[in-house]
Amino acid sequence: MSDTLGIALVGCGTVGGGVADILLRHRDRLAARAGRPLALRKVVVRDPAKPRDPAIPRHLLSTDPRAATHDPDVQVVVELVGGTTVAKAVVLDALAAGKHVVTANKALLAAAGAEVFAAARAAGRAVCFEAAVAGGVPIIRALGESLAANQVTAIQAILNGTSNFILTAMDERGLTYAAALAEAQRLGYAEADPTLDVDGSDAAHKLAVLAQIAFGVAAGPHEVERQGIDALDPMDIRFADELGYTIKLLAEAWTGPDEGERGRHGEGEKERAGLSSSPPLPLSPSPPPTRRVALHVAPVLLRHTDLLAQVRGAYNAVLVHGDVVGETLYQGPGAGRGPTASSVVADLIDLAVGRAQRTFAAARLWSGADSGFAVEPTERVRSRFYLRLLVADRPGVLADVSRALADEGISISSVVQHEAAEDGGGPVPLVIVTHYAPTGRFKAALAKIGRLPAVAAPAVFYSMGD
Ligand code: NAP
Ligand code: HSE
Repeated sequence: MSDTLGIALVGCGTVGGGVADILLRHRDRLAARAGRPLALRKVVVRDPAKPRDPAIPRHLLSTDPRAATHDPDVQVVVELVGGTTVAKAVVLDALAAGKHVVTANKALLAAAGAEVFAAARAAGRAVCFEAAVAGGVPIIRALGESLAANQVTAIQAILNGTSNFILTAMDERGLTYAAALAEAQRLGYAEADPTLDVDGSDAAHKLAVLAQIAFGVAAGPHEVERQGIDALDPMDIRFADELGYTIKLLAEAWTGPDEGERGRHGEGEKERAGLSSSPPLPLSPSPPPTRRVALHVAPVLLRHTDLLAQVRGAYNAVLVHGDVVGETLYQGPGAGRGPTASSVVADLIDLAVGRAQRTFAAARLWSGADSGFAVEPTERVRSRFYLRLLVADRPGVLADVSRALADEGISISSVVQHEAAEDGGGPVPLVIVTHYAPTGRFKAALAKIGRLPAVAAPAVFYSMGD
């Protein structure tokens, strides 16, 4: 049929297999939703002999990406290879050849969003990427379209399904970290290089994509501060639980109402913590001052009752604070074949209908235009902190640690130290929960604590989400 949308998949692994399955099994449903047929015309893979589910007709298979990007019967190239080398070449080649692009590749968008989007604009084509963040959760459309009347002021999100799966499995099933990671890989949640999942990089890439939509900032690779779950000690999961908290890998973006204070607190909490507000900005002529946004990924202690604490397994959730709407929450399966393919195919339908092209042109993402926001380090993000030290069990140690915190204006909310074993004498864990403090002041206190002779190992610390 002449108005058929011709589609080529470059990559047919976990996600590509899911997309092929929907395209081959649900032709009628898709044609009804799109108002025209969607046809799978090419499937490019590394190894054409590999058994695939679904089986791909032999005549569609190729190992040459140019068979997809230069096929005149293909209007959309779906990049599902991953990484930033082959994938980038495929995407740029497809755009140059006049194809629209759909991708689930957040690493590529974070690393080369400006280049890819400039190429798309130059070619008069669209790039769609709903599947790149939070798998089956339609957060790209929600943020870019449904919340368009708002200025987003903060985002708190669970964006890596693999990490959340591992944390849940360790917490609820007592699995080791290694066993839980192996299961996540087997279920198709992990990246080809799972280091990206567990060291916070994948969530950082996704936060960079959300920050582009929400704040118009193109966060460079080092501007999203990140800490993963790869060094998380099960001892901290247990201490957190004892305190009434669950540890989650959170991706967060904080702006503030002014230049001085930002973070997970309201004015009342700031006063309770004994810290003064920053002075109001002086009245100044236009242009308005640049607003700042801090972006970071790290394990955070959330109260058991917190909505995000209850997000389990490979599910993702994104809490968005908008200045008009207030707080909205989006939740669903964040990784794996079906959920991710669901978002890819939604983009294909939008392209078939013609919606995606208009949205792409209007949004002007990664255009380099001044959005009024700039990325800043997290030093001024205010938080309560969980601090675990390994200390000599002798008089005066707690006083020394308290003094180092007090010197930075940080007060202690609670302390946990269990009695040493009878055969003790070695260092013991000391857990301290602080009141609110700016991250920079807390880190300055940590530097002093690290120099105390009684402290036997580097401090372990995490933000608290309340
Ligand atoms: P995957 O299972 O490893 O599949 C990669 C596919 O790319 C395979 O079909 C592979 O071919 C093909 N490929 C690799 N190098 C190639 C080359 N040089 N030329 C042609 N084909 C090549 O990866 P995936 O999990 O589907 O992920 C794909 C993308 O989706 C990544 O960007 C990932 O970050 C993103 N994503 C994944 C998920 C998820 O849950 N898995 C969720 C959201 C987004 P063979 O099959 O022959 O090896
Ligand atoms: N590896 C990613 C995750 C896939 O675990 O979240 C979804 O982007």
